Amino acid sequence: MKTLVVGGAGYIGSVVTRLLLSEGHDVVVLDDCSTGHADAVPDGVELAETDITNTADVLAGQGFDAVLHFAAKSLVGESGTNPSLYWRTNVSGTRALLDAVTEHEVPTLVFSSTAATYGEPEVVPITEDTPARPTNTYGATKLAVDMMITNECAATDLAAVSLRYFNVAGAAFGAGERHRTETHLIPIALDAVAGRRDALSIYGDDWPTPDGTPIRDYVHVADLARAHVLALTAATPGEHLICNLGNGNGFSVREVLATIEHVTGLPVPVTVGPRRAGDPARLVASAERAAERLGWAPELTLAQMVADAWEFARARVGRTPGTGPTS
Ligand code: UFG
Repeated sequence: MKTLVVGGAGYIGSVVTRLLLSEGHDVVVLDDCSTGHADAVPDGVELAETDITNTADVLAGQGFDAVLHFAAKSLVGESGTNPSLYWRTNVSGTRALLDAVTEHEVPTLVFSSTAATYGEPEVVPITEDTPARPTNTYGATKLAVDMMITNECAATDLAAVSLRYFNVAGAAFGAGERHRTETHLIPIALDAVAGRRDALSIYGDDWPTPDGTPIRDYVHVADLARAHVLALTAATPGEHLICNLGNGNGFSVREVLATIEHVTGLPVPVTVGPRRAGDPARLVASAERAAERLGWAPELTLAQMVADAWEFARARVGRTPGTGPTS
């Protein structure tokens, strides 16, 4: 297939780009490199370094079979303080992308959606029929895009799949997390283990969970990438398929930290701070629809996510902190 990966210089986009390439697909990346890294795009893949609103220029006359769309602003906190940036980039940007897809008759779209569209549901595991009530601007913009795609599929023969990611972690095919502003638990904890930042602050240990810390559903980026390739063939003309991607198992913050200590053989320095605004207590996916419609099931464990993220972080820094085994 000839595929355009929009946002292919970012964390998940660059992993999917490498998987597509390894499976023999023809891949072009479009990325403005505002948060992504040009050197995350592998050799053999053309990088069109431009804004998402210029997608039509890249698609024109090229006969693409599919667009995979990862480009977005994705910091929950920033989305609250700068909503204009989020509505402009995520929603107006995707509107331009959808118009380009229609204009150049690209038959298939795979979109990076998120668990943040659901907000804080009362019942877990979360299915795709759970009411979507986002509690932050980031989630609201992603939900708005999902609604636009639903309308687009109804009006045209577009075949679209939205994949709602839960907590993505790990590294694969030589690509991993390199956010300039890092907010995620595992990379921050690994930096604390390596002495590259101060102790990790646990955002509250008085939550209504067994050990008092919030529970999340972690999925390995390599498993996630596989789901995108499966979505390309599962997509059906005129249908907008929405699938959760998670493990169906939750781990608390303290359980994640214990796994990090086990895998690295090193202690995670921690302090306990106040709760972070907008954090739900428990988010766990039902991934039954992804199993039925995509034939997808996650295979890799939390320990593997941590081991791969640790190896990727150490390779980038070029030094080996501590002496522990990496199991
Ligand atoms: N946490 C800490 N300390 C930190 C960082 C995180 O205690 O320094 C805790 C959080 O409170 C949360 C858990 O670790 O309980 C996971 O937090 P992350 O920031 O790693 O991930 P989130 O669950 O907040 O966010 C993920 C995705 C978002 C998405 C969201 C949906 O990364 O893109 O799920 O709610 F919006």
